[in-house]
Amino acid sequence: MSKLLVANWKMNGSFPFIESYFQDLPQFCTNTVVFCPPFPYMGKVKSYLHTANYALGAQDCHPQNSGAFTGNISAAMLRDIGCTYVILGHSERRLQHHETNDLVKQKSLNSLENNLTPIICVGETLADRKAKKHLEVVKQQLLKSLPETTNPIMVAYEPVWAIGTGLSATLEDIVQMHQMIANHLINPNNKVLYGGSVTAENAKDILSQPNVDGVLVGGASLKADVFNKIMAV
Ligand code: PGA
Repeated sequence: MSKLLVANWKMNGSFPFIESYFQDLPQFCTNTVVFCPPFPYMGKVKSYLHTANYALGAQDCHPQNSGAFTGNISAAMLRDIGCTYVILGHSERRLQHHETNDLVKQKSLNSLENNLTPIICVGETLADRKAKKHLEVVKQQLLKSLPETTNPIMVAYEPVWAIGTGLSATLEDIVQMHQMIANHLINPNNKVLYGGSVTAENAKDILSQPNVDGVLVGGASLKADVFNKIMAV
């Protein structure tokens, strides 16, 4: 079955980088691939996405459509430029920008109103996992940050300790958490993605587990040759 692969470039990229990155982009992919560059590069990246399976995503948005919010970007604006997905509540935003579950929920609702599909991130810290509280912590994040909606939403399980560390969660941990998340999603069109040190080497195993509908890839999505291998799984 087709999977959802999300490339989260974070605060990386430049015009020369984008030109060389997309030089070898396959013209066909059975999976749906969402590229999420920093805001200033979204238009440039979009100009390379000619295949129906390739989509443009953003890394965040504001919960309101417009107004006196200096430095922010709204879901309505993202939709205007052809964006169709938005990552919300990434742990880097929750930690560095003090984003709460409630704010993530408001952003998700506004994204849905603007026909963007939210990719809502949840995940426990290492301390939570060591204290065996990981299932409860993620369940609370789900209950508090997911909007009540029948529209399809994506949930990305990203253990905080696995992001950018080279330490991916074990397949058993992923299966257990994804099962719990899937039990909480009402719409059968919702998908559950895994993120945290996904590589060309482990992507296939992760994507073949039950309830793993896709992956959210950070570091490995910045290397075109590596990400092409992940796209081909
Ligand atoms: P990583 O990042 O693949 O570099 O671990 C994943 C993410 O933060 O979305």
